[in-house]
Amino acid sequence: ALRESCLPKAQKQSHGSEYRLQPPESYKVAILGAAGGIGQPLSLLVKMSPLVSALHLYDIANVKGVAADLSHCNTPSKVLDFTGASELADCLVGVDVVVIPAGVPRKPGMTRDDLFNINANIVKNLVEAVADKCPDAFIHIISNPVNSTVPIAAEVLKQKGVYDPKKLFGVTTLDVVRANTFVAEKKNLRLIDVDVPVVGGHAGITILPLLSKTKPSVSLTDEEAQELMVRIQNAGTEVVEAKAGAGSATLSMAYAAARFVESSLRALDGDSDVYECAYVQSELTELPFFSSRIKLGKRGVEAVISSDLHGLTEYEQKALEALKPELQASIEKGIAFAQKHA
Ligand code: NAD
Ligand code: LMR
Repeated sequence: ALRESCLPKAQKQSHGSEYRLQPPESYKVAILGAAGGIGQPLSLLVKMSPLVSALHLYDIANVKGVAADLSHCNTPSKVLDFTGASELADCLVGVDVVVIPAGVPRKPGMTRDDLFNINANIVKNLVEAVADKCPDAFIHIISNPVNSTVPIAAEVLKQKGVYDPKKLFGVTTLDVVRANTFVAEKKNLRLIDVDVPVVGGHAGITILPLLSKTKPSVSLTDEEAQELMVRIQNAGTEVVEAKAGAGSATLSMAYAAARFVESSLRALDGDSDVYECAYVQSELTELPFFSSRIKLGKRGVEAVISSDLHGLTEYEQKALEALKPELQASIEKGIAFAQKHA
């Protein structure tokens, strides 16, 4: 019988779900930065997935204890720990999905771009190892600034001759999770029913929730729509300020990242009805990377859903045009960094 996961799933689309009777395959997942604020709860949630046979946890320190602790959970996956650069290659052998939450988080007063100087190098080094050891894996980038770290990863993979744009994802699931929560709260809807596509990028005004495309459709006054958009765009900062120097979102991020991992595993496993928003190489706009709804399949991005960008409200259309220069600059900054340090 099909084993059911207790992990969060994206809302089902109304069309064409296909279930099979044979048991699902099992997959190897690696988490790089596994001892961190996101890494630990994310590792726990992935450990709960029936689709995972091996969970490889990597960090520069403190990962042994996390792995020992998790390995006592009586769920199917085997947990292995890897510490420091000398064990990174072993961590990645045979891995199907690599998740990267390694790097420093924001403190109050900082933008995500303020993290660039430290995190760019971390992502570059980790993706170089991914390119060498598991170039066919799905790569999920969580480390900020996502708008730049994904272009860095793409350049690194190109330099190594293994870039597959269908398998490189900036994780923007948290923006969707937040949008769904805030809209459901505002309109008193059942949370499970609400699905808001969020497009653009993952920082400030580049986060563009398309509230007019919410399913089920909701009626919002202009004032309500503007308020919700601003809250969704500032939600990361809301958490950074509440944590007052102790970091940024970790628990909601782990929840969102686990949902994206589970969606990827379901797609790898042959589920033909998997849709998520993610920041990917894209031709939807003139920008080379753009977050939108995508259909996931065994080989990664199977389709980029363009219909969400049709028939936007005037406010959304203006916000879309307004985000482009900032997103373009972040993309160029990432590419320039990777080319300079090639
Ligand atoms: P954290 O400081 O709690 O954890 C980061 C972990 O990365 C630490 O365990 C650290 O040892 C590890 N690390 C540092 N350098 C490393 C390297 N070279 N190789 C492997 N591991 C390394 O931070 P956190 O709260 O978990 O956040 C991590 C990143 O995720 C930050 O950049 C943050 O901005 C980002 N983030 C992104 C989103 C999103 O929506 N995409 C949401 C929240 C946080
Ligand atoms: C978030 O959206 O919570 C993350 O990008 C972390 C941050 O710095 O806000």
